[in-house]
Amino acid sequence: MKTDRIGASFWGRSIVMLVVVLLTLGIAQSVQATPLGQRLRDLAAQRGRLIGAAAGWRFFVDQTQKDLLKAEFNVVTPENDMKWYCLHPSPNEYKWTWPAPNDQDPRTYLCSSADEYIAFAEANHMQVHGHVLVWHEWPTDEQGHEYSWLPNWIKNISATSLESVMRDHINTVVGHYRGRIQLWDVVNEAIDCNPNCGYRQSFWNNPNAMGTAYIPKAFIYAHNADSNATLIYNDYGIETINPKSNFLYQEIKNWRKAGAPINAIGIQAHIGVDFKDFQGFAKNMQRFANDLGLDIYITELDVQMNNSTQYQQQAEVYRNIVQTCLAQARCKGITTWGFTDKYTWLNYVPWGGPLSNPLPFNECFQPKPAYYAMQEALGGSHGPTFMLQAEAYNQQQGVSGDTHNDFIYNVHAGSWLRFNNVNLGNGFTTLKTCYAKGVDSNTTVQVRLDSLTGSIIAQFNTTNTGGWNNFAELPVTITGGTGVHTLYIGFNGNSDVGNFDDFLFEGTQAPPPGPFTLQAEKYDAQQGVETYATFIGFVDNGDWIKFNNVNLGNGFKQLRLGYAKGNKTKTRIEVHAGSLTGPKIAELTTTSTGGWNTFKEKTTTIKSGTGLQTLYFLFAGGDGVGNIDYFTFEKPHATASDVNSAAASEADNSVDETPEDADSSDTSSYLIYLPAISR
Ligand code: XIL
Repeated sequence: MKTDRIGASFWGRSIVMLVVVLLTLGIAQSVQATPLGQRLRDLAAQRGRLIGAAAGWRFFVDQTQKDLLKAEFNVVTPENDMKWYCLHPSPNEYKWTWPAPNDQDPRTYLCSSADEYIAFAEANHMQVHGHVLVWHEWPTDEQGHEYSWLPNWIKNISATSLESVMRDHINTVVGHYRGRIQLWDVVNEAIDCNPNCGYRQSFWNNPNAMGTAYIPKAFIYAHNADSNATLIYNDYGIETINPKSNFLYQEIKNWRKAGAPINAIGIQAHIGVDFKDFQGFAKNMQRFANDLGLDIYITELDVQMNNSTQYQQQAEVYRNIVQTCLAQARCKGITTWGFTDKYTWLNYVPWGGPLSNPLPFNECFQPKPAYYAMQEALGGSHGPTFMLQAEAYNQQQGVSGDTHNDFIYNVHAGSWLRFNNVNLGNGFTTLKTCYAKGVDSNTTVQVRLDSLTGSIIAQFNTTNTGGWNNFAELPVTITGGTGVHTLYIGFNGNSDVGNFDDFLFEGTQAPPPGPFTLQAEKYDAQQGVETYATFIGFVDNGDWIKFNNVNLGNGFKQLRLGYAKGNKTKTRIEVHAGSLTGPKIAELTTTSTGGWNTFKEKTTTIKSGTGLQTLYFLFAGGDGVGNIDYFTFEKPHATASDVNSAAASEADNSVDETPEDADSSDTSSYLIYLPAISR
């Protein structure tokens, strides 16, 4: 049994265990994780936004994580290291640096040197998001112990000293980093909505001391210490218009009356894959931006999964969050809380656990679909890529997983996994497997097409990664396979092949060889349309069809539609990538072709879209959109830069459009004439 990534005995683990984990991290294979396409920070910078991540748990011990952080992000938040416990551990002691982790002082396993963050950020041209000056007590530590990120000494100070202690802390800390920390979370989580929204009962909110006035006062002291820093009120559960954000909205006005120089709100955005109210999110940001003149930062984004087959769903939430932020000029930045599923606080809280997988990079620091969704939403493109989760097989022999974990284990010689309908497009070049293995044994993994004895497109030997919990990435070359196949992953040799988490397929930027056609009636899912032998009919307003895994390579310039339409209703076809509300990559207006059997063609420019995409064709603007025969993607882009210039150009999204002859008042009913289809 080799399952203890976050074992059942987890809650009882001691600091000593953490030592072991940290030491293991130290010897983890260091791989250079470089996702396809452009880096997030370059894309965000082009849009004038910040893209960041929190890093904690002594992130400096892990070189790969550090490399990824500086490559991808232009702002960093110290996850715990600027909390009182680390920065101000005793009344007259400010600890800007901490020694390396050691058993003499267990705090060294929780606190990194704040000064090192600043140095790291400056060396890599990143901003620093200071977190946090005033926070209530946090009930648990990484181990689930009763604990607080407020040091014990402070809990003994008298009500009469509370204000001066807070003021001195803010003065000293903000002053120490004046000009070097651009953003400060001044007050964190001061509102509590359980059961009704009001001010949180907390150590700070002491009626015999400052009462709730501690909030405006904290802002005033922070401003006095660094008048150029952006001062933020940060909280969770304020993403949409709800009682908590309403309360905040009102109270900010009162804080201002009390003199609080507040510049921005921080929306933490600890959300789940089921989050859907992006409109409410947009409207909420709008009122804080427009009515209160505040900037907005998304400060702690993570998207918790419930089971291990939700990578794609999670990616769409990330995509929508980035899009919603970009659509709001005052949404200045997005920071994720951690950035790899290996180091996420959700592994250590009761409502999280190892199935949460909330971040854009996986256990092996490989980019998940969520990463590529963010990249695309920021205007980037990448070559074909997709990720198979080992445990999301369609059929298997001899492997097991368990409900606490999201990988497969007990993988012995003769075990295999089968994945149906894997679209290899024009072929992938690299397979990166994320696995862990705690013994030396002679084993081989083979990826085969269509049967257990089919042709091998990739193979590798698994080696000892240093432990059954120590996941590492192994890249190998893929030697064949295009189009849609059943994939078999077979395990051979000795027993104990490994614990397997993900298989990441990556391609090159090479475009598909030429134009290709999607037959309308060959959709993977649909709403409201009817299928006839070679076309779809009864296509009405709101109907849609979906095609999975369409390989757009480096992108196409033109979309050709074959359709017939016998009415004059003004209607259109929108092509969306990823989801029905994903980016609109093309749009066509359908006009009467002179009859429901008179098929004609029409073309339009494709604005964006590369790599493997789920495409939605959404029919809108009225009923009787047409009898749709096919969609041809043509004029492939030769290079990636070609794609970008096309995406940047807004011009001309309706080439060849025949003049609009629609009579929008024509809502008369129509019939599909079935018996004699000629074209
Ligand atoms: C969390 C850290 O991620 C954990 O490592 C730590 O044990 C507790 O704090 N809201 C916040 C963050 O503002 O400071 C919290 O960070 C997560 C919730």
